Amino acid sequence: MTDLRSHYEAHAQGHVFAHFDTLSATEQQTLLNQAAAIDLAEVASLYQSLVKGAGGKDESLLDGLEPADYIPLPGHREDANASLWREAVLKGEGALRTGRVAAFTVAGGQGTRLGFDGPKGTYGVTPVLSKSLFQVFAEKILAAGRIYGRPVSWYLMTSVLNHEETVSFFERHDYFGLKKERVHFFTQGFMPAVDGEGKILMAEKGEIALSPDGHGGALRALVRSGAVRQMEADGVDILSYFQVDNPLVRCLDPTFIGFHLMNESDLSSKMVPKAYAGEKVGVFCQKDGKAMVVEYSDLPEELTNATGPDGELRFRAGSIAIHLFNRDFIERLGSGDDESARLPFHLAHKKVPFVDASGVRHEPTSPNGYKFEMFVFDALPFARNPVIIETERADDFSPVKNAEGVDSPRTCRDDQLRQFARWAQAAGIDLKTDETGLPPFAFEVSPLFADTSTRFKKAWDALQHQPVLTEGLVLV
Ligand code: UD1
Repeated sequence: MTDLRSHYEAHAQGHVFAHFDTLSATEQQTLLNQAAAIDLAEVASLYQSLVKGAGGKDESLLDGLEPADYIPLPGHREDANASLWREAVLKGEGALRTGRVAAFTVAGGQGTRLGFDGPKGTYGVTPVLSKSLFQVFAEKILAAGRIYGRPVSWYLMTSVLNHEETVSFFERHDYFGLKKERVHFFTQGFMPAVDGEGKILMAEKGEIALSPDGHGGALRALVRSGAVRQMEADGVDILSYFQVDNPLVRCLDPTFIGFHLMNESDLSSKMVPKAYAGEKVGVFCQKDGKAMVVEYSDLPEELTNATGPDGELRFRAGSIAIHLFNRDFIERLGSGDDESARLPFHLAHKKVPFVDASGVRHEPTSPNGYKFEMFVFDALPFARNPVIIETERADDFSPVKNAEGVDSPRTCRDDQLRQFARWAQAAGIDLKTDETGLPPFAFEVSPLFADTSTRFKKAWDALQHQPVLTEGLVLV
């Protein structure tokens, strides 16, 4: 204790213990645990480089930035090669049949924009049953296990802020039919928030203001938690990464896996052409021959709006945060052993309520604190043979981010309905839709019934009694 305290004093962070003597024994222990887990030298250097230096952004990073190349969908560009896509699907199916791939969801975020109080994955999204995001993913993973004859493991990253609630949600729902032993939870790391002088902010007298270290924290958390060892023991060498907010995602896409394998890539990604210049998605770029994602907030306006000779957006390759990571690549980056391959931290200037050294609580009305986060896509420049493939937005991406407007529960529900309607129409069912493809009523297709158009037709044709497609129908 005295050692820890003097260590904090030596780093000009002694105020963290200002109220220590007034705390109960349990509170004291909590504070000590929190304090011991923080790397003060790292915090000091991040403060110096990100807060004090260059307003947090090094503009030269964007010099010489070019759009990244990607593998276009057949029919979408002149150079698209349909036979490569056919080869990829077979290769990916092979990997799923031999159990080489596990699913991975990052679910440690706080979901503040949605205004939903609880882990985001527990939020109900489907049009009829309002099944949670977690249930949709679970059913897709269960379906893949059945289709390829090899049950798939699922890794989920939570944060200390939502871990218990997440696990108890799965317990209450009996893991949605998955085997409990195949669902692996682990928590990500955290970072303290600091004020403009670099002092660590206190959320309570005995509690440091901590926040998750960003989804980039997944790489070190996968190593630290033993998840990569577990993968190795299970014969898994590829992790299929997706975010908790996107129920349309193909959690285990054989074509994507096939391209990853054919290119012997460390890290593969999916892109969609941006819907409009200002769409809030990261953009795949390249610089000095290395692929990277530049977050929408970091891409200067003139590049965001720039168009090429064809009149299309020049920087059009939107990142939908779907990736495949090789296990050994995760180990290389997540272990921290390779000094030359470290994910950088990004800065977020936020309102952080805090208690000052004299015990007075402050509820700031403007940003007062700095948080440090890593982004998982910053791993791209370190990857061998990174592959970016194009995907159909309508079949892979409709996130729930905001309470209303774009990327909201409403737009996501409609996109699910449009997908179900396309499948129904392709199976020969007479269903009228509006000009956007939206059916006139809500119905729902469980991933356990079908997760693609082809499988929908097969499952539908196999039904002994085909139901009438009406309001509220659920196909399971
Ligand atoms: C993210 C991407 C953006 C991409 C878009 C696609 C970032 C910074 N940007 O934007 O490039 O185009 O998605 O939808 O990620 N999470 C954690 N731990 C954390 C922070 C986040 O697990 O510490 C998880 C969240 O639970 C969520 C995902 O990461 O599943 C995305 O986080 P969010 O902050 O919502 O990213 P966006 O700004 O939506």
